[in-house]
Amino acid sequence: MARCMKTANCVAILTLGQMIVVFIFIGVRWQTADHVSFCDLSNRIIQDPDVIEKCYKLLQNKYFTPNMASDSTRILSTSTNKLHDEKWKSMRQRIDFALEKCSNSSDVKDITDRIQGIAWTSSSGNLAYCVTPKVGCTYWKRVFRFIYRDFNGTPKSPVDIPRMYTHYGPLKNIKLFQLSEPAARTKMAYMKAFMFTRNPYTRLWSAYIDKYFLPDFWRTDAKNVVLSVRENATSYSKRCANDVTFEEFLTYVVRMSGSRMNEHYVPVHRLCSPCHMKFDYIGKQESFSADASFILDDLGLGYLNTSLADHVTEELKTLITYNFKLKTHLLSGCFHELDVARRLWLAFQINGYIPSEVNFPKAEIMKVRHLNETEAVFAKLVLNQYTSSKKSSTEWKEQRKRYFVSAYQNVPLSLLEDVRDVFQLDFDIFNYESEPEELFYRPASDN
Ligand SMILES: *[C@@H]1O[C@H](CO)[C@@H](O)[C@H](O)[C@H]1NC(C)=O
Ligand SMILES: *[C@@H]1O[C@H](CO)[C@@H](O)[C@H](O)[C@H]1NC(C)=O
Ligand SMILES: *[C@@H]1O[C@H](CO)[C@@H](O)[C@H](O)[C@H]1NC(C)=O
Ligand SMILES: *[C@@H]1O[C@H](CO)[C@@H](O)[C@H](O)[C@H]1NC(C)=O
Repeated sequence: MARCMKTANCVAILTLGQMIVVFIFIGVRWQTADHVSFCDLSNRIIQDPDVIEKCYKLLQNKYFTPNMASDSTRILSTSTNKLHDEKWKSMRQRIDFALEKCSNSSDVKDITDRIQGIAWTSSSGNLAYCVTPKVGCTYWKRVFRFIYRDFNGTPKSPVDIPRMYTHYGPLKNIKLFQLSEPAARTKMAYMKAFMFTRNPYTRLWSAYIDKYFLPDFWRTDAKNVVLSVRENATSYSKRCANDVTFEEFLTYVVRMSGSRMNEHYVPVHRLCSPCHMKFDYIGKQESFSADASFILDDLGLGYLNTSLADHVTEELKTLITYNFKLKTHLLSGCFHELDVARRLWLAFQINGYIPSEVNFPKAEIMKVRHLNETEAVFAKLVLNQYTSSKKSSTEWKEQRKRYFVSAYQNVPLSLLEDVRDVFQLDFDIFNYESEPEELFYRPASDN
């Protein structure tokens, strides 16, 4: 029988019952193949809700667990909550806008092969978050770790999961998948999927401050910047890479744009392209807490919302500890306590936690008897300053903006135009201004 199956004319010697089995088998095979190609969204832009709906119904058993299945049809259902409906409508508009821009853009085809993002999903595979560093990914990784119980100890809320563990701790229940896998695109279409995006200019500025101005990347990517961009770099700079300027960083980003880029500054559309993947929610850094609370609420995770409110104090402490700990990873002579404290102080001013008019408390830090006490003394000074500062959120926002604008004003216009071009699709798809006047208008350099 097994040998016989290999040749077509053997069918003649099969019994009727066996033939039916064979035909059913062939039929199922054919149908499955047909539906898979019908539902294989990897090579086209997903726009047609009917296609999504049909494929979803067809394959839901494959990717959904029953309790989440009804969720995907929520788009068609009528919610009783009016405010929620409003938010849902504006989220829908944001996604539709992105899809329309995708279908209008001639560049979209080119990026298909350059998607390099990673999504976190549960083992049951019904919820997916495309990770975008510099856009609140710590927050979402904590939420995933919390709801899928991928943590150590007994955290009472997501923020109780330490930052380092959040990023580097082992994953047991959470699964990762590369969005570049062909199967990923189909899989994503049958899950609740979300991503966050951010204005490329603020994302680049934030990446520079957190990773290149502060020590995080001194032993890794900052070295590449010095070697690739700086002419006649001193041997000290080549060794320590602790003096990369914002202009050098941007030059490097532009230079790298044709190849694989670090995930902290690669354009968001190359991490998690809504042109090729179905997303149920696209959140924005600029409206992070409103978008996050809407998404949590819509996913039935609203109970997590309150526990994620204000945790600046804990963030400041974590950042200080993290950056001081890097000393042990850096080459000797590259890390000086006083210098790193000074950089952190400025970074906190740039991020709007410490008033710009308060000078770095150098004298008080110099009083320590042993270098190893610098961190504790410094942390105390920062926290005291943060808790005693009475600026309004508008004032903090203005302070952040002053640093941001001034950093870009010091970058040559031609470089800024190159940066704009590299991120053009991000500006288009996610509806950001590509040439904001405050960055592009140069009153002084008029000639
Ligand atoms: C897409 O292109 C069409 C035709 O050129 C245009 O009318 C429409 O406004 C464009 N959509 C977006 C979102 O830019
Ligand atoms: C680098 O060194 C070369 C040779 O000494 C010199 O001609 C060039 O001007 C230097 N470049 C910069 C940017 O200092
Ligand atoms: C989540 O918390 C924020 C701030 O506490 C609040 O403004 C918002 O209404 C909450 N959202 C939901 C869905 O409960
Ligand atoms: C700092 O170093 C000194 C001398 O090496 C040591 O006596 C002290 O216990 C250390 N303090 C801390 C907080 O590690």
